[in-house]
Amino acid sequence: MTNQDRTEHTCVVGLHWGDEGKGKIVDVLAEQFDVVVRYNGGANAGHTVWIGGEKFALHLVPSGVLREEVTAVIAPGVVLDPGALLEEFDMLESRGIQIAGRVLISNRTHLVMPYHKKQDQLSEAALSGGKKIGTTARGIGPCYADKMYRSTAIRVGDLLHKDRMREKISTVVALRNRQFAAMYDDADPLVADQIVDQYAGYADRLRRFITDTTPYLYHAMESGKRLLFEGGQGTLLDVDHGTFPYVSSSNTSAVGVANGAGVPGWRVTRVVGIVKAYSTRVGGGPFPSELNDAIGDRIREKGHEYGTTTGRPRRCGWFDAVAGRYAVMLGGVTEVAVMHLDTLSGFEQVGICTSYQHNGKTLDGFCADAETLESVEPQFEMMPGWDADMARIKSHDDLPAEAKSYLNRLESLLGARISMVSIGPDREQTLLRPATGNA
Ligand code: IMP
Repeated sequence: MTNQDRTEHTCVVGLHWGDEGKGKIVDVLAEQFDVVVRYNGGANAGHTVWIGGEKFALHLVPSGVLREEVTAVIAPGVVLDPGALLEEFDMLESRGIQIAGRVLISNRTHLVMPYHKKQDQLSEAALSGGKKIGTTARGIGPCYADKMYRSTAIRVGDLLHKDRMREKISTVVALRNRQFAAMYDDADPLVADQIVDQYAGYADRLRRFITDTTPYLYHAMESGKRLLFEGGQGTLLDVDHGTFPYVSSSNTSAVGVANGAGVPGWRVTRVVGIVKAYSTRVGGGPFPSELNDAIGDRIREKGHEYGTTTGRPRRCGWFDAVAGRYAVMLGGVTEVAVMHLDTLSGFEQVGICTSYQHNGKTLDGFCADAETLESVEPQFEMMPGWDADMARIKSHDDLPAEAKSYLNRLESLLGARISMVSIGPDREQTLLRPATGNA
């Protein structure tokens, strides 16, 4: 491997609990890249991209696919629901986006099976109130659990072997039916033959996309192609580094790129962290800066904060700079994009959570323990708001002085340069921000 590669291979990662707007930034950046790689998670993710007033909601296909010249790669760290992927292919093709020859799926990627989704629902239903993770019920956790368990896992490469698929599916379905009956009194067993036929159909359609993406990515980098890595969810949902156990089951932070994509981490030299101008979270778990009041409701309505995948209302709060700074530090974030600045227009004051107090003492930054995070008291710094017709703003210079001060403050609290600001859903509503010397 050559050390001469000076290309800025880039990763785009959420710095809070997901839904920061990574899809839009990937789409905006994708024109500078040849290959876009999705490296974690599955159909739990929801990436929304608006182009010319048209909405594209993607769950598995990397958002970069919306740029014609880009090859989209689904890497080993993803868990793939083939039915959901094919629905997305059909949706994209029906809207004139070519898929054939432009999407590659790693044969190492694990397959989400119907019993994973069923287990996700049964195990969540069995948990009481506060213990619920609040998953998306897409089978993500059970699929990653089978991957770790190994003997019950099925990978995309297995789709190419009919007899192997039949044997594996029959064995695991029989096992799961017994487990579900014993653990959850489930009286509706899955039928292995139906799943075998369903996945044989998927195999027929997906065969031509399946390959070993690891050497493909190596050769792409060696031949000077530029790679963009697109994370699903956000840093604080990372199974190792997030608000465990209220997390997803993959490495959603920037440190997960190397492992999930199958590339050396040192080649990814630019890490773009995405935040919204406020914070949101969907599902259970601690959210120190949450506003359970009229302001939280107003942010939700103005920002259309409802899940792309499940439609659930998102919990909303002021910007959590403590959590954001932790994510910047963990991921080696080199620059930040702030999304939804337009949503905060019209508020008399805007708040930033700058520290947490616990038992009367200020904590030294973010903390690993979800129970402590549940009981911290957020310390808010309030700043003057602004009221502007954001649709008329064409450059960073045009932003109201209060909005610029707000961005300056976020930048110094995060400790990373804010290079882009989004003021609306469309590609065009993205402002480049000059360096300030703050971070
Ligand atoms: P799972 O990934 O479906 O297992 O869900 C685990 C947790 O991650 C739940 O709190 C979900 O709401 C959350 N989650 C998963 N995917 C996303 C996402 O794309 N955006 C925001 N939250 C997500």
